[in-house]
Amino acid sequence: MSMIDYQALLSFAMEARKKSYSPYSEFRVGAALLTEDDKVYLGCNIENASYSVTCCAERTALFSAVAAGERKFKALALVGGKQDEPDDEIFPCGVCRQALCEFCPPDMPIVVKYKDTYRVFLLKDILPMAFLPDAL
Ligand code: THU
Repeated sequence: MSMIDYQALLSFAMEARKKSYSPYSEFRVGAALLTEDDKVYLGCNIENASYSVTCCAERTALFSAVAAGERKFKALALVGGKQDEPDDEIFPCGVCRQALCEFCPPDMPIVVKYKDTYRVFLLKDILPMAFLPDAL
């Protein structure tokens, strides 16, 4: 199995962040989700005048991939930050962690920008004791 290029995936997330629609929070987020067969799906946060309708970048990427027929994923990269500020380290919100757990393996790496480099966390470590399909 080939090694995952985390830096390249992070660059995709930075590109995705440019599409963020976030006039209310002015907090721009980009995500890049890598499929098992090396396709990359992009997502940005999409806000709404009815604030709670907002969709996070991670779920935009996940749902766009699933809607395209993808079901297996092996890495997610994420960047965020205020409007005019550079990409910074952020972590997926709780709702997105749960959404990711539906499709992504527990040991999937979550790559987050960190200063001039990145840090990698496992999905199972950022959402321990997740509620999974096999509970039903
Ligand atoms: N946001 C994301 O897109 N992903 C996260 O993991 C955290 C929050 C978005 C939602 C909202 O548009 C803005 O960031 C501020 O919360």
